[in-house]
Amino acid sequence: MTKTFYITTPIYYVNDAPHIGHAYTSISCDVIARFMRLDGHLVRFLTGTDEHGQKVAQAAEKSGISPQNFVDIVSETFRNLLGTLNISADDFIRTTQERHKEAVQHLWTKLFNKGDIYLGKYAGWYSVRDEAFFFESDLIEGKAPTGAEVIWVEEESYFFRLSKFQEPLLRFYKENPDFIGPKKRMNEAFRFVEGGLKDLSVSRTSFTWGIPVPNDPKHVMYVWLDALTNYLTATGYPEHNEAETLWPADIHMIGKDILRFHAVYWPAFLMAADLPLPKRVFAHGWWTNEGEKISKTIGNVIDPIELVDSYGLDAVRYFLMKEIPFGNDGDFSRKALVQRVNSELSNKLGNLVQRVLSLIMKNCSGVLPTPGSLAEKDENLLNHSYDVITQIRPLIQEDQSIHKVLQLIWDIIDDANKYIDESAPWSLKKTDFPRMETVLYTLAETIRCIGILIQPFMPNAAGKILELLNVPGEKQNFSSLTPDDKLLPQTKINAPTPIFPRIEEV
Ligand code: MSP
Repeated sequence: MTKTFYITTPIYYVNDAPHIGHAYTSISCDVIARFMRLDGHLVRFLTGTDEHGQKVAQAAEKSGISPQNFVDIVSETFRNLLGTLNISADDFIRTTQERHKEAVQHLWTKLFNKGDIYLGKYAGWYSVRDEAFFFESDLIEGKAPTGAEVIWVEEESYFFRLSKFQEPLLRFYKENPDFIGPKKRMNEAFRFVEGGLKDLSVSRTSFTWGIPVPNDPKHVMYVWLDALTNYLTATGYPEHNEAETLWPADIHMIGKDILRFHAVYWPAFLMAADLPLPKRVFAHGWWTNEGEKISKTIGNVIDPIELVDSYGLDAVRYFLMKEIPFGNDGDFSRKALVQRVNSELSNKLGNLVQRVLSLIMKNCSGVLPTPGSLAEKDENLLNHSYDVITQIRPLIQEDQSIHKVLQLIWDIIDDANKYIDESAPWSLKKTDFPRMETVLYTLAETIRCIGILIQPFMPNAAGKILELLNVPGEKQNFSSLTPDDKLLPQTKINAPTPIFPRIEEV
């Protein structure tokens, strides 16, 4: 049975409207999911909303509506964002769904029956913003290490025997050094576990907005045990009807702030449940806004919908994926976005397409010319376009170095621009018409490959480019990056309109 490539975003808290952080995680997963589909894999791409817990309960209370109504409304805004950002998710999970409640309660019962969950009493600090427990020794100037306020919590609580998994986790990390990416995050998780693990409180009694603990309904489950299990719920767990093809997940994409939950707690829960561990957890970095930390208090939250309205979706997706090496932190600035779009999208890619297709329209009556025999530089450009995929594949599948992939594609675009300037097809028109035809054909064929390659990043622009060249749908996969599927001479092409209009500098 073929394993489906299973990729997940974190499920988003519905305490507030979506912001650039959510958009960033979702777009990066979308790029990988689209890439894998185009590369011939079966893909399941899961996203959704995290709807229980104290933070969401408090947000609902503040807005004066019932938690259920509140989460229904906010979850819908996250679902709508998928359309705005053209996210190709296959499933949208909500933790208030019945399928999820069943899965979590099943998992709980399993851990309880095995003796890995026991009843005790929690006395310690809790940060509602982080939905995390802290020891006195974790606090910095009376606050959580994230700067969030903490409250003192003292209540009866069930505990998960996390301490028991310290050695198994360390062993697992050593045996699977690529379990966590980038490397620095693996080191961070390793050091955390090496520092010692205490048992983890996994239920609360001081509020009710959560999944009830089986056989003890005055407790609701700790929101992270509830939330992490979503990845299993979506495989059909506990039925496990699709488990063989879906589980374990191939990539859990997360932000660096939620590493501990995914790289320590989640694997420990899975080990306790005798389930296989995900193949990889990748933690991306965080954006600041014009040099400042993004926060509601500062009031500098970036609205992804507004960005798309202002600059267009392809530009936003491209900028977010290119601006910072994936895995690092980086800064968002409108100036940088505009400059990047103008220089890399309009000047380099947009102009290339516009120039080549206009020349073909004008000089070849709107049909692809028939090439003569190819010169070495024609072959070089074409081979570059066909072969780059073998360099790109491991960057996506193994390293998630999304920014490097874009660089490799733009290297072809740079090559093509150099080639057109050197070959000057506009002057060949008078001096050597057949050579002009060969040059224009070579360029059109290069643009075909570029159009195919940029689909995961900019599905709309890629679609337009492939449509201009009349590339049929079944020839748009990566398997068509070969001379076997080259453009057929004498095919009609369509008159180009600018794909990336320049944006006025701010
Ligand atoms: N509900 C949890 C996840 C549960 S997964 C089982 C959660 N939700 S969240 O809505 O707060 O965050 C979702 C994602 O947004 C995280 O991956 C987080 O890293 C990301 N970002 C939030 N702010 C961000 C930036 N400023 N920059 C980049 N990503 C950021 O955590």
